Amino acid sequence: MAMIDDYLARTPRSRALFERATRSIPGGSTRTTIYSAPYPPYVAYGEGLRIHDVDGNVYRDFLGNYTSLILGHAHPAVVAAVTAQVRRGSAFGAPTETEVELAEELRRRLPALERVRFTNSGTEATMFAIRAARAFTGRSLVARFQGAYHGTHDLVMAGTTGVPEVMSGLIVELPWDDPDGVEAGLRGREADLAAIIIEPVQGAGGVRAASSAFLAFLRSLADRHGALLIFDEIIAFRVGPHGAQGRAGVRPDLTTLGKIIGGGYALAAFGGRADVMNVFDSRQPGSISHGGTFNGNPVAAAAGLATLAELPPAAFERLDRLGDRLRAGVAGIIEDEHLAARVDVVGSLFQVWSGAGISAVATGVDVVPELFLGLLLEGFYVAPRGMGGIPLIATEGDIDDFVAAIGRTLRRIQRVPSAIAAS
Ligand SMILES: Cc1ncc(COP(=O)(O)O)c(C=O)c1O
Repeated sequence: MAMIDDYLARTPRSRALFERATRSIPGGSTRTTIYSAPYPPYVAYGEGLRIHDVDGNVYRDFLGNYTSLILGHAHPAVVAAVTAQVRRGSAFGAPTETEVELAEELRRRLPALERVRFTNSGTEATMFAIRAARAFTGRSLVARFQGAYHGTHDLVMAGTTGVPEVMSGLIVELPWDDPDGVEAGLRGREADLAAIIIEPVQGAGGVRAASSAFLAFLRSLADRHGALLIFDEIIAFRVGPHGAQGRAGVRPDLTTLGKIIGGGYALAAFGGRADVMNVFDSRQPGSISHGGTFNGNPVAAAAGLATLAELPPAAFERLDRLGDRLRAGVAGIIEDEHLAARVDVVGSLFQVWSGAGISAVATGVDVVPELFLGLLLEGFYVAPRGMGGIPLIATEGDIDDFVAAIGRTLRRIQRVPSAIAAS
């Protein structure tokens, strides 16, 4: 049976929900990134590594809400912390100690985070980090990298539909891991440069780590030109106890965080040098206004704290081992069977490329629908673009099963004509 027919046969309730959803929500859901053709499975509930869809199909979830659920679904420690907080109230027009505790915990993990503020999403975190850099430097130009994803506010979406053309003049895109190309891309505009923002490990652009040498080069370049260096670690933070910056040994001026620090709830953060972050000190005249009804929300902060408590350095060592096991397993199959595929792994983050996707690594824009669909049929859930994050609760057996499923899927999609293309 063609994959698409198989999927349609297994997911009638998801299909009905999708059709119903499109009558209220354009595209059937509120998140561009979770759409996949012909429609995504609608989830009923999640439990540990597994999610159950409304048709009763069960998937081992290696996406974990785009790498944010590092402990899996409904982890008992997180459920207990959240329940306790909800009983005490869910949100106040006043600060709480929970927010302070989370700030302190993040500072313990990231020495560069001298001060930190919370937001509800990574989009807001990068927006405010950039605003801080502009306020501090008095400059407006921002540099980013090919394949980068920093959320959806106007500046980082410059050049796309609905964003005024004027935004494109305020941001410059630089080549990845190419010091000469970076210098050339900035030439003549250095004095206007407020910040360089980079994901030290790219997520959406394919899981790829910038070399320590490249990050060190950016550090000295930013210093040379009086600009700030921002590490967007919204995904990358999970690659080590001190994030990607600890792994690379390079200290940014500002860092953005999200995903795992909210323990599965809506929370993100930005922070860094105290002198820069002081632009938000409400006690100072002229400070930047940073409102947000749910900023530092105690329920999300409690979930984040409970999650980080489960992540001592040994947890990252375990995640690294599971990541190595996944890479070795998939790479072995690709090599043995001469498949047109590739696997990239950094810590517990992974990206599987198939067929034409391999050549798209440089731009980071590619979707291989058959890979996603094939893995769904195997009972595994990843991003439609073949990316995911291994949760701490996965066992070596889960990894081995996942490797075998990736192997079967790659063989299936590379040896039979594409069901989707044909339909
Ligand atoms: C590196 C990076 N920056 C920013 C964002 C935006 O975060 P959010 O989706 O919470 O707005 C994401 C989300 O995937 C991300 O991966």
